[in-house]
Amino acid sequence: MRFWKGFALVGVILILLEESFSGSIPTTLDGPFEPVTSPLDQIKFRGFAVDLPESDQRVMRQAKGFEPEQISVSLSATEDSVWISWITGESQIGEDIEPLDPASVASIVYFGRKKTGLNRKAVGYSLVYSQLFPFEGFKNYTSGIIHHVRLTGLKPGTRYFYRCGDPSAGSMSNLHSFKTMPASGPHNYPSRIAIVGDLGLTYNSTSTVAHMQSNNPDLLLLIGDVTYSDLYLTNGTGSDCYHCSFNDTPIHESYQPRWDYWGRFMEPLLSETPIMVVEGNHELEEQGHHKTFEAYKSRFAFPSVESGSNSEFYYSFNAGGIHFIMLGPYISFKRSGEQYKWLEGDLANVDRSVTPWLIATWHAPWYSTYRAHYREAECMRLEMEELLYTYGVDIVFNGHVHAYERSNRVYNYTLDECGPVHITVGDGGNRENLAISHADDPGNCPDPASTRDPHLSDNVCATNFTVGPAAGKFCWDRQPEYSAYREGSFGHGILEVLNETYALWTWHRNQDLYNTAGDVIYIVRETEKCLFRTKSQDDTIDC
Ligand SMILES: [Fe+2]
Repeated sequence: MRFWKGFALVGVILILLEESFSGSIPTTLDGPFEPVTSPLDQIKFRGFAVDLPESDQRVMRQAKGFEPEQISVSLSATEDSVWISWITGESQIGEDIEPLDPASVASIVYFGRKKTGLNRKAVGYSLVYSQLFPFEGFKNYTSGIIHHVRLTGLKPGTRYFYRCGDPSAGSMSNLHSFKTMPASGPHNYPSRIAIVGDLGLTYNSTSTVAHMQSNNPDLLLLIGDVTYSDLYLTNGTGSDCYHCSFNDTPIHESYQPRWDYWGRFMEPLLSETPIMVVEGNHELEEQGHHKTFEAYKSRFAFPSVESGSNSEFYYSFNAGGIHFIMLGPYISFKRSGEQYKWLEGDLANVDRSVTPWLIATWHAPWYSTYRAHYREAECMRLEMEELLYTYGVDIVFNGHVHAYERSNRVYNYTLDECGPVHITVGDGGNRENLAISHADDPGNCPDPASTRDPHLSDNVCATNFTVGPAAGKFCWDRQPEYSAYREGSFGHGILEVLNETYALWTWHRNQDLYNTAGDVIYIVRETEKCLFRTKSQDDTIDC
């Protein structure tokens, strides 16, 4: 009797699993799907895409003297190491600034597995950066002291407690904690990974962050366009549209204190939950002497050395059985360039028996169908898509376009059951507001020459389609077949990898209840059908 009860219980569990995998929630095995455009939510369209003012308590400096602030955790390339970053001292802005001495404050983290036993110590390095505009009447900026400390020798899937700061100055942080990623392996995955782009610091951004926190992520991926400090002049005057409002400035200005505002607002989340960032166009922030990306490169820690890239613009890391590749569209992506060579080497070293899932992210999407930035990254796609396809990338995440879109499996603009699923989540909530127009809407197809971003490429690469229903045209006359679902709403996504083949993707809209999904699908790796190159094998093999 007991045997039959046990047998029945197993049967029920199997049925439940079957329903959850293939019941009400669709899977990519059911695709390709007919394209769906969710209608614009007129009431929630604008939302509250207004930047938090400097008077908001959440962005004001609360630290005294050289107490740590803007504390964050980032991953290294493997689960046994993380970076802790923070800032001490006050930034300065004005015509007469004096950079702080980075060596004047030590960079120390005490950490351990018990709250009362911070028995280990790690020492890192510190720096300051300046944003200088050599023009009459402009204000210059110099940062507080930015500290980065790498903790090593950590156990996987383990919570560690820490304090950071300079004990000799009597300025250590409050107690914080983080959890390391599970050990790399086909059966180990972080529970939930939050993914968003183009976050900014508006009241919509705060809603996005609140929704993310309610989903209790183990890791946050921020796919470029972080603070939108470059929508401001150096005197702090801001605009929703920089080029509309400030078209007579000799250089594209930025107001760097907004980086500090962003760091303070995000500290409650980022001091406990690791963040991995990759650059967007709004991090470019040109200053005098053609320096760019200084805030981005200085404020975040990247596993660049650990992953062999030696660049803050592209790197890779493992999170359990997932290998993440972070790429940079705003530096050379040509096959003859350093990034491409690094990517080839990194892909060739991925052992899919250890990290079955291969996920790539970069800022500007290849398969967005919105009018904004339509086919803007085509030069990058032409250089890199074949390589990513050959190695069997499972999912691509992008930002840049301020909306949500999920593709069918696609390669070279053709439906392909072994191509990646491309997901755009540039819907974090920044003050530039939502993208709502589609390139296939009547009269909305842009002039191909207008689609070039000079920061992305010197060339215009997007041309008329040569095959398929849109042959001879630059845009489709309806939602393209490679676009499965699109909607212009603010939100974020959560990726839950369940095993070697199933991952649950949910997109959460800010206007919904916390636990409601606007789009949900199981992304399924078809390991018996799709052939790709793997580690140590030059020939294409069955995985
Ligand atoms: Fe962008």
